[in-house]
Amino acid sequence: MDLPKKCYFGLIYGRLTTKGEYQICCGKVPASGNYHTDGKFIDYWKSDKLNNLLTQLRDNLDEMNKTWGDGHCDYCPHSVINEKLHNGEIDIPTSPITFNIDVINVCDHRCNFCWHWSYDMIDDKAQFDGFSDWAKEKLDLQIFKDTVDGLAELGDCEEIQIGGGGEPLLHPNIHEMINYVKENNLSCKLITNFCQITQEQLDNLIKVGLDDILINISAGTRETYCETRRVQSKVWDKLLSNIEHIIKNRTTDVPRVTLKSVINSENIHEVGNTVDLGVKFGVDVVSLRFFQEDGVYDSDSKIISKEQKIKFDEILIDKINEYGYEEYEDDDSFIYNYKSQQTNTLLRGDV
Ligand SMILES: C[S@@+](CC[C@H](N)C(=O)[O-])C[C@H]1O[C@@H](n2cnc3c(N)ncnc32)[C@H](O)[C@@H]1O
Ligand code: SF4
Repeated sequence: MDLPKKCYFGLIYGRLTTKGEYQICCGKVPASGNYHTDGKFIDYWKSDKLNNLLTQLRDNLDEMNKTWGDGHCDYCPHSVINEKLHNGEIDIPTSPITFNIDVINVCDHRCNFCWHWSYDMIDDKAQFDGFSDWAKEKLDLQIFKDTVDGLAELGDCEEIQIGGGGEPLLHPNIHEMINYVKENNLSCKLITNFCQITQEQLDNLIKVGLDDILINISAGTRETYCETRRVQSKVWDKLLSNIEHIIKNRTTDVPRVTLKSVINSENIHEVGNTVDLGVKFGVDVVSLRFFQEDGVYDSDSKIISKEQKIKFDEILIDKINEYGYEEYEDDDSFIYNYKSQQTNTLLRGDV
């Protein structure tokens, strides 16, 4: 993928961390502002400080790349959008188009591929310095609300994603947060392991009109699910019953449900089972993403071997044939998209 001619990162993607830091672009770049020092998001967004940074990015991307770590933009999936902005094919938005809010860092699972909570890392006591303080961080509700207010006022934010370094459903105010985004008429996506939720709370997600739920399943069977994230068997049952409940009880096409699998050496053999589960439950999307090794503890043991990749391709082709999937063109952020007449479940390769 070509590097963008000019960079408009802050316009594509923004992020608020549990500490109240403002980050433009993905988590690879350092935070450039903070609620506690730079004020509410809307004030920071309009500040000279951010404008100066964006100007540097636009005019001197190579230098900024060096400052931030050489080549970090090489694989930027937003390059195509940047080009369109640069060429004047689309209007320059008034705010980040997508905004991710990290609400909490603690997690109840120990997914072995996870950047933060891999059980290998915990077994070996190899957490980074300051991990135990980091793990206790959770975003203050008022900071969350002020940021949502700002994004609503700025006007061009197309999606607020609620996630974190841990599991957002463990935040004591998570349902109030989701309600607040929807009261502000913004689109909301919840990124979750989708286990810690009651039936009443599930019904509330439907009632308030949550737009998207991205469920990290990353397995296709109970055994692998429980083994690779060190959870009890009943957690698998709860996950499946939550998925079933949402799909059966929604009365419109939202919340759209995506089953996400982070493919690595420990679950790659189950890709077919994951697709089967998605089709069986009638989820909207099965999204497959190869695991990113950067920052994962003992990542070598989770890297996919050549043989595994060959087998993965074979399984996927079988599933594509079995469900009559055909490739189609969609937005730029997926590496492939398949749809089928036999099922409403899309199959996507995520970046
Ligand atoms: C850090 S988790 C936090 C939210 C929630 N606990 C969950 O699992 O979805 C956010 C997402 O990061 C992704 N993820 C975690 N570790 C990854 C890795 N090593 N490579 C790629 N994606 C990863 C998963 O898709 C997950 O849904
Ligand atoms: S559920 Fe999410 S945060 Fe928790 S260990 Fe798994 S990927 Fe990491």
